[in-house]
This record gives sequence, C-alpha cells and structure tokens, in this order.
Amino acid sequence: MERQVAVIGAGISGLLACKYTLSKGFHPIVFESQSSVGGVWTKTVETTKLQTPKPLYQFSDFPWPSSVTEDFPNQHKVLDYVQSYAQHFHLLKHIKFNTKVAGIEYEGPQDEEIQSWSLWGGTGEPFSSKGKWNVIVEDLKTLATEVFQVDFVIVCVGRFSGLPNIPEFPPNKGPEAFHGKVIHFMDYAAMDDEKAAEFIKDKRVVVVGFQKSALDIAMECSAANGGENPCTVFYRTAHWNVPDYHPWGFSLAHMYLSRFSEFMVHKPGEGFLLGLLATILAPLRWAYSKFVESDIKRKLRLAKHGMVPTHSFLHDISSCLTSTVPEKFYDKVEEGKIKLKKAPNFSFCHNGVLVEDESTAIEADVVIWATGFKGEKKLRDIFVSQTFQDYITGTPDAAIPLYRLIVYNCLLQVQFFNSHYISRLIRECIQPRIPQLAVIGFSESIANLYTSEIRCRWLAELLDGTFKLPSIKEMEKDVTKWDEYLKQYSGEYYRRKCIGALHIWYNDQLCKDMGWNPRRKKGFFAELFDPYGPLDYVP
Ligand SMILES: Cc1cc2nc3c(=O)[nH]c(=O)nc-3n(C[C@H](O)[C@H](O)[C@H](O)COP(=O)(O)OP(=O)(O)OC[C@H]3O[C@@H](n4cnc5c(N)ncnc54)[C@H](O)[C@@H]3O)c2cc1C
Ligand SMILES: NC(=O)c1ccc[n+]([C@@H]2O[C@H](COP(=O)([O-])OP(=O)(O)OC[C@H]3O[C@@H](n4cnc5c(N)ncnc54)[C@H](OP(=O)(O)O)[C@@H]3O)[C@@H](O)[C@H]2O)c1
Repeated sequence: MERQVAVIGAGISGLLACKYTLSKGFHPIVFESQSSVGGVWTKTVETTKLQTPKPLYQFSDFPWPSSVTEDFPNQHKVLDYVQSYAQHFHLLKHIKFNTKVAGIEYEGPQDEEIQSWSLWGGTGEPFSSKGKWNVIVEDLKTLATEVFQVDFVIVCVGRFSGLPNIPEFPPNKGPEAFHGKVIHFMDYAAMDDEKAAEFIKDKRVVVVGFQKSALDIAMECSAANGGENPCTVFYRTAHWNVPDYHPWGFSLAHMYLSRFSEFMVHKPGEGFLLGLLATILAPLRWAYSKFVESDIKRKLRLAKHGMVPTHSFLHDISSCLTSTVPEKFYDKVEEGKIKLKKAPNFSFCHNGVLVEDESTAIEADVVIWATGFKGEKKLRDIFVSQTFQDYITGTPDAAIPLYRLIVYNCLLQVQFFNSHYISRLIRECIQPRIPQLAVIGFSESIANLYTSEIRCRWLAELLDGTFKLPSIKEMEKDVTKWDEYLKQYSGEYYRRKCIGALHIWYNDQLCKDMGWNPRRKKGFFAELFDPYGPLDYVP
C-alpha cells in the first residue's frame, strides 16, 4: 500500500524533500502558501546577493548554469536557479500553490501511549498502521478548507521567513509613542523595489540589528539619502562579519571547512583519541581564530569604529553569525552616511528613539527592524496539539531537540516558559516523541541548501527503510551531546543550532546511517585538508 507523504513549504528545503521522496517511489503532496517556489528567494531586498560562495550553495546533481559566472549571484539568479531545479526534476506538478497549512493534527495513539514508547513511533518505523496526520489546509484563493490525511509529514516552513521577531516595549515606550513609520525587514523586503526606495528616500532612518538584513538595508538607505539623512544602525552586539573569504590571502574554506579544521574542536560523540587531539590542537584553534580576526580588523578598520567584537571569530563561525559585509560599508560609515550606535536598550518617543541612559532622542521618520525571525514559534504553531507544540518547543536551556538535526528529540522534560524554544531534534530533523514527522531547514550551516539536501537524502533513505533509528534513549543521548557541543562553541547563540564549523562530522553520521562511505575525497591529503562541499556528496 502506498504511503502518502506531505511536505509543507516549497522553498529550497521543501523542493529537496519532494525530489528525494519522489526518488524513492513516494508521491508527495507539497503545500505552498505562495504562488511560486523559492521561499525566501521569491522576493527580498533589491541589493541581496547570495552570501555563500556559489559552489557551496548548489544542488549536488544540478550545477549552476554556465551563464552565471560570478561567485555571489544576485537574488534573481538564485531564484531562477531554484525554479529551474524544480522544473528540471518535474516537481511543480506535486505542489499545491496558494495553499496554506493551517495546522497538522495527529490521529492515532494517545499522549500517554506515546509517552511510554521506547522507540520512535512505537516501532522505530517511520510509518504506522495506527497513526495518520490530518493536514488542515486553506485555499488562499477560495478560502475553502480541506483536510488531507497522510502517513508522514515533512515540515519545511523556513526559519527566516513568515514570522518577524519584534522587540517588546513597556506601554507608551514602543512604536505607538512614535509619529513615524515602523516596519520589519520582512515587509520592507516584500515591497516592490521602487516602492521600497521611495519609502526610505529623504527619510531619517534607524535600522535595528547588525546582521545581514541590517547591513543590506543600511547600504540601501545610505545610497538613497547620502550624508544629508544618514542612516543610524542600532546594534546590540558587534560580530565578526567578513569582508571576504580570504583572510590574509588564505582560503577561509580550507581553514574552517576541512577535516583538519574539525580536528581542532571537540565533537559530539568523539572518542578518547579525537578528544585528545582537539585538546592538543587548542592553541592552533586559537591561532586560526586570531589570524582571521586580525585580517577582518585590518580590512574593515574595526578598531577605528569601535566595532571590534569581544568574542572570538570561532564563536561566530560556530554560531553561523559570520555575515558578509557589503562592499564599502565602512566607507559609508566614514563618509557619515551610516552611523553605528550601540543601543542594547532603547525606547520610542514622539519624534524618534531614545537610547537608554541618554537624554537626547535620535530623531527619525522610519524605524526598520532587522531583528530576525521567530522561526521556532512558526514551527510550533503548526501543531494543533499542545503536547506536540511543547515537545517541539523544548526547554529554555536546550536547543531544538532534533535527531540528526532532522527529527525532533523531545524526550527531554518539556516545560514551556513564556518564550518559545525549539526542542532538540535528532540529526536536527526528528523529534523522537513526534511520530511520522520530520523537520528540514531548522538548523543552520555555512550553506543551508547543501545542509538541507543531505538531510533530505537521509530522510528519504529512512522512509525507504534503508536504516532504522536507534532507541529513543540513544537518540536522546546523541541530541544531548550535540547540545553540549553547541553550548561550548556558540555560547548564548546555541539556539541557532549551527553546524557550520562541524559539517563534515555531522555529514559523516548521516553517511554512516545511510551506509555510504563518509570519506568522499580522493587521496589522503585531499581528505584531510580540502574543504568539503555539496559536490563531495554526488551520488
Ligand atoms: C534574504 C535572505 C538571504 C539568504 N541568503 C542565504 C545565503 O546566502 N546562504 C545561505 O546558506 N542561506 C541564506 N539564507 C537562509 C535561507 O533561509 C536558506 O538558504 C534557504 O533558502 C531556506 O529555505 P527553506 O526552504 O528552508 O525556507 P524558506 O525559503 O523560508 O521556505 C519556506 C516555504 O514554506 C512556505 N510556508 C511556510 N509556512 C507555510 C504554511 N503554513 N503552509 C504552506 N506553506 C508554508 C513559505 O511560503 C516558503 O515558501 C538567506 C535567507 C534570507 C532571508
Ligand atoms: N544573502 C544575503 O545577502 C542575506 C540577506 C539577509 C539575510 N540573510 C540571512 O537571513 C538570515 C536572517 O538574517 P537577519 O539579519 O534577518 O537576522 P539575524 O541573523 O537573526 O540577526 C538579527 C539581528 O538583530 C539583532 N536583534 C535581535 N533582537 C534584538 C533586539 N531585541 N534588540 C536589538 N537587536 C536585536 C541581533 O543582535 P544580537 O547579535 O545581539 O542578537 C542581530 O544583529 C541569516 O541567515 C542571514 O544570513 C542573508
């Protein structure tokens, strides 16, 4: 009997999930709320380019067209590439566009029975004769609601879209006190380019945040308004955002994306020898970080601008916080077109924003939140069941509990404290207490396409019965070890669930599960010193 698989979302993760489940003979049904594929790439800020070098952001079996020669193509070329992929593999006919999933509800064993399982889904199998998922969808054109019953759900709703993260303020201290306009990056990005340009033209703009979205908007404002109306950027934390990927002329990929670089860090589940090696190589790990930091400081003149981060580059790369700095960003700062202002706390007043402990307000007409997204809450809200919501949310002191960063591991004691936390997922995809469901796209790496692809391949093999998941207890242990790693190297940013500096070790685990040889290079030195990327995993 054919098992029905549903995929929610047709961004890069959803397309990959569709393609790889098709390759195993399933006929997935993909629900996409927008009218086209591509997710975040369907519409974004005009100047957005790929910030990951193109060779790392590519499908393993579908190269970039030869017409795209640059390493960092613009958003339109990325979208074309993603759309061509969907066409080439005949994915479009499996997608229901303008169809929003309002909720998913499990119909099967009750919570108490699920709690008593020692194996995922009770049997360790991805499918069950006892349980089904009801996928409640809304047709956004007709507003009609329909329920689809399926055997497995792959949630690919995206972490950096849909639900903006907007800081909260005490009464009368927030945007309501302000005469100007306040919007989030997401809404700015959704405007057509001319309207967005008009929106900021001749305005005194304050941008809140200091990651990629903030840097891009600040550049657009500086281009529109020059020095007459400088754009003020409110930052909370200075980061090691990179000007390029060649510190002192060396390749950053060789320094941080090779097996040798992973020997320098303690890994989840490492044995005694690897642990010893990481300890012995600790001074080198420190030296690598300082080497890169010195290059960034020099190229961006960070000391002059008071923007030297207090933490290490290793910390940022381990937390996926190394955005690329737009070309000439600090030139604009020196020309007075962009003003950087440390403002961890501020409030709104009638004519602008007031930084804590300062007496004079910064006058403004527009405030733009570039404060990221609440991807975890979006994921949580898709579940109808409060119990599953709590499982996926996890505890405040643990990142999303996904096994293999795919399956949510919500075995941990689950508590819900006002904020939303994503529980740990096994292989970053599977939550052991949530049967017949996987999540793709909720942990980060240096190239999210590449990471989503290998996860989808792992998941397709799991659905096809190539391997079985270990017991819930073992998954829980694995998830805890990854959590410890994240906390050790990412500190307060461990919730970003970044495998950026440990992607080969992570992929090794997936390869072993799938019965593939994890050593993908030809020759000892290449295996040790060359960076790994998507093309190393070509079938
Ligand atoms: C502006 C921008 C630039 C980026 N640049 C890079 C980069 O250079 N390198 C990199 O590695 N990463 C980058 N990222 C991260 C990016 O999020 C990933 O690379 C990748 O595109 C994410 O794909 P996704 O499919 O997981 O999520 P999304 O692209 O967010 O796709 C999710 C899809 O699910 C749909 N959806 C959501 N909820 C529902 C629902 N309830 N029902 C039906 N459909 C639903 C959405 O409409 C969307 O189409 C960037 C992110 C942004 C925002
Ligand atoms: N390819 C591209 O060109 C491109 C463009 C845009 C976005 N992206 C990607 O999209 C993803 C999202 O990026 P993003 O920049 O939108 O979000 P982000 O990476 O989550 O960064 C959010 C920023 O907002 C700050 N912030 C959050 N809450 C705050 C608060 N309450 N008060 C003050 N500051 C606050 C954070 O500061 P702290 O550091 O102090 O937490 C951080 O600087 C990332 O993966 C990014 O790389 C890529």
